[in-house]
Amino acid sequence: MPAIITTEKLSKTFSNAGVQQHVLKNLDLTVEEGSFTVIMGPSGSGKSTLLYALSGMDRPTLGTVTVAGEEISSRSEDALARFRRAHCGFMFQQIYLLDALSVMDNVMAVGLLTGRRAQVRARAQELFNLVGITPADQEKFPSMLSGGEAARVALVRGLINSPSVFFADEPTGQLNSEFSRVVLDLLQEVNATGQTIVMVTHDLRSAGRGSRVLYLRDGTIRGELDLGPAHLDATGHTHDAPGRADAAAAARHTQLVAFLADMGW
Ligand SMILES: Nc1ncnc2c1ncn2[C@@H]1O[C@H](COP(=O)(O)OP(=O)(O)OP(=O)(O)O)[C@@H](O)[C@H]1O
Ligand SMILES: [Mg+2]
Repeated sequence: MPAIITTEKLSKTFSNAGVQQHVLKNLDLTVEEGSFTVIMGPSGSGKSTLLYALSGMDRPTLGTVTVAGEEISSRSEDALARFRRAHCGFMFQQIYLLDALSVMDNVMAVGLLTGRRAQVRARAQELFNLVGITPADQEKFPSMLSGGEAARVALVRGLINSPSVFFADEPTGQLNSEFSRVVLDLLQEVNATGQTIVMVTHDLRSAGRGSRVLYLRDGTIRGELDLGPAHLDATGHTHDAPGRADAAAAARHTQLVAFLADMGW
């Protein structure tokens, strides 16, 4: 598969009160189109910073980021915003929902940037349904939601435009195991239709859904594990559903644990 994202010598340095912190250092990375790429690494290792740089939400200090053949790192703010609208969906660690809009309107506001009202609404309804956001919840305002509900709304908003790349930072961080599975199943379904997923997580179960796991430490990618795609079974569930998929899932899990032990996780 061709690369959908590449970075060359990507560096990000923050200055705090005169002290420079080199968070990303000459990082070279490739994300294949259609992959489900997982990024792991210690807290504070720069995973969120990397996701912001890859998705054009923030600029590198040095180096380049190329997405879908376009070098985005040197673009103007406007061009970058247009680019993100056309190609990218997001679910970040901090859930940024607009407080003045209802849950449905938060999603519609993003959907209508590129889609038609009737279709966007139907797709929103479908996604809300899948992640257990009821019609009553859809009329609420963000301040009325629980953390896990807000996370699921943010997920729907991020997927509403069927982005070519979906960036998710700890999508299951606020969710119980049942909703984690629902959300991971959805990400996997979306991935199976050809959308690329880049997901940061600390959670082994979530990471096991990826086709490839990258380990970030000290500002660079320290290692990678090729797991191959996880398969959805006939019920649309993957490895944590009972049945034949169990053995394959256990094998993936073992590989992942060994890899992370190697990385010093
Ligand atoms: N805007 C900023 N200004 C200054 N320092 C920052 C900024 N953003 C991040 N940092 C610093 O960069 C480092 C990496 O932060 P980042 O949020 O990328 O880590 P992370 O790997 O996502 O951690 P976690 O797993 O805890 O979410 C941290 O030490 C953080 O304090
Ligand atoms: Mg983070």
